[in-house]
Amino acid sequence: MRNGRKKLSVAQIQFAPELGNEETSMDNFRELIFSTRHRADLIILPELANAGYNFRNRSHALEHAKTVDDSEFIDWLRRWALMHETNIVTGFLEKEGDKIFNSSVFINKRGKKEVYRKVHLFMNEKKIFDKGDKGFPVFQMEEYKLGMLICFDYLFPEAWRIMALKGADVVAHPSNLVTDNAFKVVPAQAIINGYYIFTTNRIGTEGELTFTGKSFAIDPQGNQLAMASASLPEVVTTKIDPLASRVKMITPENHLLRDRFPDEYGEILL
Ligand code: ACM
Repeated sequence: MRNGRKKLSVAQIQFAPELGNEETSMDNFRELIFSTRHRADLIILPELANAGYNFRNRSHALEHAKTVDDSEFIDWLRRWALMHETNIVTGFLEKEGDKIFNSSVFINKRGKKEVYRKVHLFMNEKKIFDKGDKGFPVFQMEEYKLGMLICFDYLFPEAWRIMALKGADVVAHPSNLVTDNAFKVVPAQAIINGYYIFTTNRIGTEGELTFTGKSFAIDPQGNQLAMASASLPEVVTTKIDPLASRVKMITPENHLLRDRFPDEYGEILL
């Protein structure tokens, strides 16, 4: 603790959820989460951690979707968060009315739940999910600000930037990656926006899709702090100083956010 500031311990849990089987999905990470007891301030699970990914169609996904307040999976994690005084981010197959979302739920250590819904839907997801309708929120996590993106969202720099402008210190990025592009793009976004990013990916295969694992943590300078294996269930733990994300001077004369010229960027809204 060189600067005397409190460190935040982040545990990324990489595992394989099972398609359409919440019980087995939970069994597949139970031992891993158990190993984080008393030593994680923030736990991050992959995209659709309760449900698996490769649904045949919308009605197949709808069969397995729950509301955040009526999900045994979320209740279990909430009890875990309260019992072990930890914050948790998890991917979640969410239903609301007749809509289904590919969501990320943030449960804070007091049990409060917040939701982000994936905006940028990848391939077949366009036929399965509704587009997220909550924008790009940033939530208070103790003295820090937490943003969330889900997998393919990473290719859209506007989303990262909005969270930087809202003061995000840490971005949790639950994923089900099937290419290696995120390993190049995400560190660049950490530099561009000056915050920590945690991409928690899944492993395993569903039908024609093989997920690439290698969950990773990136600091505000774009350095890789940790990376998991490509195919094993694993917990990757990193200790960070989230207040380092508040330093936005990248040279003695340049500030990442104040040196922008929004008046010059109008075309981006077209
Ligand atoms: C993805 O967005 N799950 C590739």
